[in-house]
Amino acid sequence: MQLLNRQTGRHAARNAVASKRVTRGPARVSRSAAVHVRAVAAPVAPTTATTGDDLPYRMSDVVMWSESKRIQTQVLPVAEDTVTIRSLDWDRDRFDIEFGLENGTTYNAYLIYGADKTALVDASHEKFHNLFLEALQKELKAAGRGLDYVFVSHTEPDHSGLIPAVLDLYPEATVCGSKVCISFLQNLTHRPFKSQAVKGGDKVDLGGGHVVEFVMAPNLHWPDTMFSFDHATGVMFTCDAFGMHYCSEQPFDADVKVLMPHYRFYYDCLMKPNAKSVTTALRKVKDLPYTMIANGHGPILRYNVSELVGDYGRWSAALTKGATSVAVLYASDYGFSDRLSQTLAKGITKAGVATEMVDLLSADPQEIVAAVGRSSGIVLMSPPRDNVDARTSLAAVSSAIKAKTKVVIAESYGGRDEPVDVLAAQLQDVGAELLAPPLRLKDLPAQATYQLFEEEGTDLAQALTAKESIARKKAAMSGEVAKALARLSSGLYVVTAQHNNARSAMIASWVSQASFEPLGLTIAVAKDRAIESLMQVGDSFVLNCLGEDNYAPVMKHFLQRFAPGADRFEGVDWSPAPATSCPVLSDAIAYMECRVASRLETPDHWVTYCEVINGSVTNTGARTAVHRRKVANYY
Ligand code: FEO
Repeated sequence: MQLLNRQTGRHAARNAVASKRVTRGPARVSRSAAVHVRAVAAPVAPTTATTGDDLPYRMSDVVMWSESKRIQTQVLPVAEDTVTIRSLDWDRDRFDIEFGLENGTTYNAYLIYGADKTALVDASHEKFHNLFLEALQKELKAAGRGLDYVFVSHTEPDHSGLIPAVLDLYPEATVCGSKVCISFLQNLTHRPFKSQAVKGGDKVDLGGGHVVEFVMAPNLHWPDTMFSFDHATGVMFTCDAFGMHYCSEQPFDADVKVLMPHYRFYYDCLMKPNAKSVTTALRKVKDLPYTMIANGHGPILRYNVSELVGDYGRWSAALTKGATSVAVLYASDYGFSDRLSQTLAKGITKAGVATEMVDLLSADPQEIVAAVGRSSGIVLMSPPRDNVDARTSLAAVSSAIKAKTKVVIAESYGGRDEPVDVLAAQLQDVGAELLAPPLRLKDLPAQATYQLFEEEGTDLAQALTAKESIARKKAAMSGEVAKALARLSSGLYVVTAQHNNARSAMIASWVSQASFEPLGLTIAVAKDRAIESLMQVGDSFVLNCLGEDNYAPVMKHFLQRFAPGADRFEGVDWSPAPATSCPVLSDAIAYMECRVASRLETPDHWVTYCEVINGSVTNTGARTAVHRRKVANYY
């Protein structure tokens, strides 16, 4: 593929030194955003031999945001007549949703230079106001171009926050987006702009073969999401889909081994709750000859496109083939409805149950009736009480819900929520069963709130699948095999983890030393365990060893079934570990502070490989308790 054209070839001419280093982040400097030119570290693709094309790129200086966070832009050509402006958010440590970021994130925007027209695909977060607009203006000026179109993949602020500012600079540009997207943008910009609501299959001809076709991909992961496919280059612009939160100067997916945990974690948090929508979107694009995925977060998919897109298909198919699913009814762009509904959905999918996200403010009543009708459980986030569309949707829910359907109802913290008690009474009147009292929010959601919502989601999924889960475990192996396998034995431990105001614990017995240098061990953690969210790659925890003389009370305490959000440490003596501050139980005979280095997926567990970073024996005379079982179908 010819990567440089006359607009972008100037970078090559100005390029001086080819750096082979993949940087983890720039030094902390704070100056104006003057632009330097460097060369991209040569992408080395382990699975192909087509690299060696040192693509030149430009980095702005680093600017400090909010005193301590480094931000920067990177500009480079990625395909013929196609340039990316990547906003590098090096130190962002949390996304709005509850999950933490180890490696920051990026917001990727793109310019397509057709022979006749120029289009911008997405923009950036508001914090990049000066950096992004400077890069955009510089790029367009150098190319001798104005801006004819802005293709908005969806309206979440990390990509669309600067759309109003872009339109201030280029008021002649026409915004193309889904109908819902244009409506959201009108609320965001508070002034008129040229717009074109597009549907799946609609095309915009930029000239020179750059015919851009739109594909509607609702709920990936926003109700207004669409993809844009450029027929000239084979580049598909997908924004959130196929992204990952990983900030690096390396713009492509060359080092897939390093990126894979981030890619999977991002899928689990953002896309897995929308697995049905993922499957539908993949079906829509299967005949498009895309060769590059120009995503909105992290490295652009260039070297491992079929493998990584295929992963989305495989992961989603595995989840959606089950008979049980839950409809998650939320109100887009209202309070914390989006975030909290996604968190509930994440908890549900952790237990292997598929979810279907339905926006009460934009879905047709027929869609709602169909989704509720085919669901075994319902999550209902309180919509705004003064919204006509929400009223219509709630009536559709009541008409379609089946008797004894298990329901979770939660507040959205939007300031004018429909009262959850009223919603509960309405659904109980038509035969629904509340799983638990409605979830109420008295303060802005914090990490513990997200943990509570995730656990509530998992509880709902487990309640829906309890019988089949027991039957499946019994059927998994013959009686003799179950007895033989039970002869495997291990010690008894309690894993304790803490992050901000969220902490959790679980009894563990599937533990084994796994390496000498560095000292490492593995722990198998069931996918639907609450603590699983706190044991991602990079997370810390403490492994507490129980003594054979005093394990029973501790084991009994941590084996009890805790309600979502319950404090598992109530009545337990503990102190913070010196290196990680995770809880060390006073009854432990020894403890190890560990950091998760990698995870291996099995059908129902994550085998986490962890490096031991600190530890101590607190009772030298005691021996570790041994966990002995009669059958291996259960712990
Ligand atoms: Fe990356 Fe849905 O915004």
